[in-house]
Amino acid sequence: MRTIVIGCDNAAVHLKNELMGFMEKKGYTVENMGCDSTEDSTYYPYVAEKVCREIINSGYQKHGVLICGTGLGMAMTANKFKGIRAGVCHDIFSAERLKLSNDGNVICMGERVIGAELAKRILEKWLELDFVDCASTSKVEAIKEIEGENLK
Ligand code: RB5
Repeated sequence: MRTIVIGCDNAAVHLKNELMGFMEKKGYTVENMGCDSTEDSTYYPYVAEKVCREIINSGYQKHGVLICGTGLGMAMTANKFKGIRAGVCHDIFSAERLKLSNDGNVICMGERVIGAELAKRILEKWLELDFVDCASTSKVEAIKEIEGENLK
């Protein structure tokens, strides 16, 4: 089972705690990069940065969950890191495609958008799948090619 690195800003502490408990119950090792309090005003990009650096340092073995008010800022930041493919998912179909079509290694959600029970089902779908070589492989390779040209 993969190790999952999780992080949130102060808009999403409650949902992060729910999702951490959910994953731990399922047997995943979860590494928490904060925030742990709604009083912690660390900007979401710095939390996303911590999580992404941990994934990169693991040789991309670890995957990530990033939660903020909407998931949007977390995804924007995460996609600035080489080898990170992050997407916002508030439905199960997108979570499935994030893994199977895009080889997404970071899933993002927003506590102000989605309830905890649906978020758990979405996360469960994304966690249980693995990207396999398929018609989407060359498209993911094209993302990497563009990334190589544009990210130092
Ligand atoms: C609050 O800072 C809010 O902007 C943040 O949680 C997130 O929704 C940004 O994308």
